[in-house]
Amino acid sequence: MAILKILQYPDERLHKVARKVERVDDATRRLIRDMAETMYAAPGVGLAATQVDVHEQIIVVDVSEEHNQLKAFINPEIIAIAGEEESEEGCLSVPGIYEKVRRAEKVSVRALNEKGEPFTLEAEGFLAVCIQHEMDHLRGKVFVEYLSQLKQIRIRAKLKKRLRETM
Ligand code: NI
Repeated sequence: MAILKILQYPDERLHKVARKVERVDDATRRLIRDMAETMYAAPGVGLAATQVDVHEQIIVVDVSEEHNQLKAFINPEIIAIAGEEESEEGCLSVPGIYEKVRRAEKVSVRALNEKGEPFTLEAEGFLAVCIQHEMDHLRGKVFVEYLSQLKQIRIRAKLKKRLRETM
């Protein structure tokens, strides 16, 4: 296993649109294990392949405190949504920034698992938020893009300044 490098906003590669996984194989499973290890080490509750500069439709999520409920979604699709809620989000690609985003309260997601088998999962609350957040990454969308232009400019300036300071 390996810890992968997480792209930092405003890196342009975060805006690439991920392609579908054609075949779930050992390379896919290795990537999922590495993504999970990277997420746990960060630590974080979700990670999209886009964030480690692999532009394939794969996300991993684990919202449990014990880190024992890893869920991997390959080619995820939201097939139903219900309700609406606003909650504070953060992102491993946008460190130190937490902002409120409005999303569906419940989602039904269809995807393939690590064996390439289809499954459907109904999620609500924090898990539903995480899945939607990670799926946005696959479309090249970072959560700060839901905020006002002014806030986005401020966040970009803050992160660029921090990047300069650490170099
Ligand atoms: Ni994120």
